[in-house]
Amino acid sequence: MEIKKITAGVYAAPTKHWDRRLFDELVPLPDGTSYNAYIVKGDSKTALIDTVEPSKQQELLDVLQDMNVNIDYIIANHAEQDHSGSIPAVLKRYPNAKVICTQKCKVMLTEHLLINEDLITAVDDHSTLSLGGKTLEFIHTPWVHWPETMSTYLQEDHILFSCDFLGSHLATSELFVKNKAETYNAAKRYYAEIMMPFRIPIRKNMEKIKDLHIDIIAPSHGPLYDKPEIILDAYQDWVSDDVKNEVVIPFVSMHGSTEAMVNYLIDALIKRGIKVKPFNLAVTDIGELAMALVDAATIVIGTPTVLAGPHPNAVYAAYLANALRPKTRFASIIGSYGWGGRMTEDIKGLIKNLKVELIEPVVIKGYPKEDDFGMLDRLADEIFKKHKEI
Ligand code: FEO
Repeated sequence: MEIKKITAGVYAAPTKHWDRRLFDELVPLPDGTSYNAYIVKGDSKTALIDTVEPSKQQELLDVLQDMNVNIDYIIANHAEQDHSGSIPAVLKRYPNAKVICTQKCKVMLTEHLLINEDLITAVDDHSTLSLGGKTLEFIHTPWVHWPETMSTYLQEDHILFSCDFLGSHLATSELFVKNKAETYNAAKRYYAEIMMPFRIPIRKNMEKIKDLHIDIIAPSHGPLYDKPEIILDAYQDWVSDDVKNEVVIPFVSMHGSTEAMVNYLIDALIKRGIKVKPFNLAVTDIGELAMALVDAATIVIGTPTVLAGPHPNAVYAAYLANALRPKTRFASIIGSYGWGGRMTEDIKGLIKNLKVELIEPVVIKGYPKEDDFGMLDRLADEIFKKHKEI
């Protein structure tokens, strides 16, 4: 790994995980990721801000050795192991270093990483630490996406080290964002998969940092922003209550009947000027589905009835949408059955977290016939009407 200078006395150590394809054994990473540690050298002390995922810890230790620095402080913005997991190795190398974090993070670091609590100092919201000519301010930004998270603001250089907050899973050789569209996409995916359930606390955190003079946002995943408005404006949009005139249709079909219904509904919605994002759950990347849920006003789940209930792929999509808690306002269910079952009741039971108005489902027997297509037209009309009202 190459150390990269951000400004005088401030360095980035972005460890790339180019070929990582899954996070938490759940989240797809089509673009890999990075774990960014930062080194801030003051006149008298040096701080390391966040570390790296344990499998990459030797790269970080090598960088610190090449820099020939002594680490006095390890700032742990977040206790999750992809940032904190190398703290024990850094402490072994620099046994006099003090770990700085929130009180909740202190408890987590002792529980998850077995770090001696005597080595950890908990800091209050907005407290500061002088390194000599460089002042770190610790801003508590809880629930992005764990309860203990904070951001660190370097007052003299106007740099916000935000850890997961405002980050993106994107491995790139560029230190700063060069390709805005690529980064926007990766950051939106990251928001959708990880941050979306915490939209309201994130809104509060956005409010908390809005008056800071920020020249650079330095997250601990993905490239840095030297034009902070790129990501701040995007987050304002994502965390707002505004929804778009869009319908997301996660669906699965076994013998083509539900698919025929989905295809008819897609055309019916398009004819009414509504943007449609269908996802065939047999092949879809769930990250793409999560991204679509960031903006859409409506979700329609399409599933056949199998073994008296919804298809397991539809159960997974409904469970995921329920867990991600998008700002979606309306929901419906469509699908075909052979001889009966309780598919709609099961799906409804799975999406109780969603603050949605349920539009009458369209559930039919066998392959759709003329009357069934008529019901889908009426569903499209109802969605059109609801979208108009907002
Ligand atoms: Fe990148 Fe929540 O860890």
